[in-house]
Amino acid sequence: MKKTVPKIVSLKNDRVISMMTAYDYPSAKAVSQAEIDIILVGDSLAQVVLGHDDTLSVSMDEMLHHVKAVTRAKPDSLVVADMPYMSFHSTPKETLYNASRFIQEGKADGVKLEGGNKRKEMIEVLINAEIPVMGHLGLTPQSKNIMGGYKIQGRTLELATKLLEDAILLEGLGCFALVLEGVPSVLAETVSQNISIPTIGIGAGVDVDGQVLVYHDLIGMKSKEYIDAKFVKRYTNQYEEVLKSMKSFKKDIESRDFPTEEHSYGAGELTEENIIEWKKEVKKILS
Ligand code: KIV
Repeated sequence: MKKTVPKIVSLKNDRVISMMTAYDYPSAKAVSQAEIDIILVGDSLAQVVLGHDDTLSVSMDEMLHHVKAVTRAKPDSLVVADMPYMSFHSTPKETLYNASRFIQEGKADGVKLEGGNKRKEMIEVLINAEIPVMGHLGLTPQSKNIMGGYKIQGRTLELATKLLEDAILLEGLGCFALVLEGVPSVLAETVSQNISIPTIGIGAGVDVDGQVLVYHDLIGMKSKEYIDAKFVKRYTNQYEEVLKSMKSFKKDIESRDFPTEEHSYGAGELTEENIIEWKKEVKKILS
């Protein structure tokens, strides 16, 4: 059954919520079939699919292209589209235009955007337009230049309080869930206990309402060198499997073990006698 925003909200204090990124039709099919509650078409697309060094370079159009591929899979999971850098930073009008493209053209069920109080106006305009919003606090990768790199956030009492205040603000604005990334477990636990909307953690410990991982991290499918974050659990090494298959293909065609009769099409009218005649015809045509 298709997951809805109220359904996700109702899962808080009931069971652990699962979220996984996906960026195309086959990954969305797999995530949905695994009965994961939420698909996030994350801007991590920039790194794990498009080969950029960070998430700042992915555009609205590129994100939309992948959101469309995901929703074509008609997943039962709720589909949340990640607002890329600069798609919600200038004006509420532009923010609304961009988010509405994800909903109208991309058929997403909601959007996610990074930041707290700084993005208040932008979140308000989306919720007023009936667009469900998932918040994202802590180590927000789009702020990497301000943060001075990918650093665990909220480690001082002052910053922990600020993050809790931001979380309460996002709940008050009407966000339906909140991603907590790269924060001390105790802070994530405190936030989760003090807001009524579900928290979904990544590098935020166990005491949150749900967990999210990046698809390519989980399946071990990375084209670049692994940047092994402490919070990643790799369940399989698909890159190695794919590499093995590619090498076997090359070996098979070189040794002519592939294709075989089994992979080839039958002659039809091209019988031995016909072929002699046909070759004569071909010669005439070519002369
Ligand atoms: O883009 C992404 O994949 C994310 C998750 C890590 C939460 O924002």
